[in-house]
Amino acid sequence: MKNRIIDVSVGTRRADAAAVKADLLAVGVFEDGPCCAAAASVNKTLGGPLKRLKQLGDFEGKAQTSAMVYTDGKIAASRVLFVGLGPRDKTDVQTLFKAAALAAHQAVDRKAKTLGLLLYCAQGKAAPVSLEQAGQAIAEGIGFGAYRYDEYIEQAAKKRASKLTATILTAEAKTAVALKKGAAIGAITAAAQSYARTMANRPANVITPATLAAEAKKLAASIPSLRCSVLEQKQLSAKKMGGILAVGQGSANPPRLIVLEYKPAGASAKTPVIGLVGKAITFDSGGISLKPGQGMEDMKFDKSGGIAVLGAMRAIAHLEPHVNVIGLIPAAENMPSGASYRPGDIVTTYSGKTVEIQNTDAEGRMILCDAIAYAKTLGCRTIVDMATLTGACVVAVGAKRAGLMGNDESLIEQLKAASVKTGERLWHLPCDDEFVEAMKSKIADLKNVGGKWGGACTAAAFLSQFAQGAKWAHIDMAGVGVWGADEKQAPGSIGFGVRLLTEFIRAQGK
Ligand code: BES
Ligand code: ZN
Ligand code: ZN
Repeated sequence: MKNRIIDVSVGTRRADAAAVKADLLAVGVFEDGPCCAAAASVNKTLGGPLKRLKQLGDFEGKAQTSAMVYTDGKIAASRVLFVGLGPRDKTDVQTLFKAAALAAHQAVDRKAKTLGLLLYCAQGKAAPVSLEQAGQAIAEGIGFGAYRYDEYIEQAAKKRASKLTATILTAEAKTAVALKKGAAIGAITAAAQSYARTMANRPANVITPATLAAEAKKLAASIPSLRCSVLEQKQLSAKKMGGILAVGQGSANPPRLIVLEYKPAGASAKTPVIGLVGKAITFDSGGISLKPGQGMEDMKFDKSGGIAVLGAMRAIAHLEPHVNVIGLIPAAENMPSGASYRPGDIVTTYSGKTVEIQNTDAEGRMILCDAIAYAKTLGCRTIVDMATLTGACVVAVGAKRAGLMGNDESLIEQLKAASVKTGERLWHLPCDDEFVEAMKSKIADLKNVGGKWGGACTAAAFLSQFAQGAKWAHIDMAGVGVWGADEKQAPGSIGFGVRLLTEFIRAQGK
């Protein structure tokens, strides 16, 4: 029997922080002192521990540091966690997201059931972050930090609280309104991100193309503005989706193409349609071009792009921006067997273009090319795809950033803007004709591997050939999908891309 993932609720309250009963009260501290008058007053009521912490060198308000203090009945909360915010003049949404995440992470570690957060109350033109943005970032950070993946650990729920009730605090009524508005948005994106993390963390014997499709249907059934249809193997064959079929043919778990449609109320024929495409290889063994055994277990995360789209569609459908969005998730398991596709095969893709297979491990592009071409037939003029596509991308930009490529400067800029807001970092890489050349085959239109160099760029250049006629961007999240988590986070998926895609879509719908 599976345990339930911790249930997080986020509220906002105008209150005197010292009077708030909580198992843990997180109080923001900049390098130059408490974040606001209310935070300073908590410190004073406790007898001024911040001064001593600083003298001892134990805590100086640096970002990503904290100090726990026991309150001995001096205030209503049982513990205070001073959370470092770094230099005051460098505050941005990331500062608040990370501080809230750190507080929530510690709260769950201490089995706290209630968490109060007093992290930000700057207002007016000089404020570095608007209160609404602050509310959103704090709510998202709470969800991120509280997350644990323990559904298969016996009695996990007994080792931690099953629910965390978090309350963002502020001393003033007028700040509370804006914080609350942002927190309501953040609670939605945070829940979608946690949902995505769980889906990505589930192993390949649990998440197959078919069970992933069933999860997508279940999700759509729970949100009125979301619809889900699934192309099964028969329909994929009828539509001649040769790429998805080729990759899936070696597995006992047949492939699917999951299509999620979000339509806002009052959408007309003129409302633009944006396609979000995500690679969902539920397990990437490499196929006949088998991967080495070491670390192969991480290839359950090869569905992370598809899961990011699934999570984003959930958030988008709840937030209801005024733009049509179609999420397309090609799902397949890449396995070696007597039925597998092989090196040397020539595959006819949905677009009609033929591809010479040189390496069955370059399977992501083979399922994405069909989904991208199909998105165009569904009316998508703008398409963004996300995929754990190449090890080369991790070599190029590391495991904390995703590669960003595409055929339209303004789309690239819009994605960069969304990325700055959510802190899911992107780095622009080229995929122009020079790389397209490397993907040409002597016996087919294209081949599925390029030369030795620029593997992330040649993979994107391959995809670009199926996106012609649409504005298209590609996010290679190989590093962040598989190895993105750091020591301070729950191991496994970080749900990269959910907030990024949601923010990008929200900006379109404004
Ligand atoms: N899923 C992998 C890419 C990957 C590698 C993701 C490491 C996360 C971490 C992808 O399907 C793959 O195997 N790509 C090959 C392409 C090559 C054969 C051209 C790669 O990167 O080696
Ligand atoms: Zn592969
Ligand atoms: Zn793969």
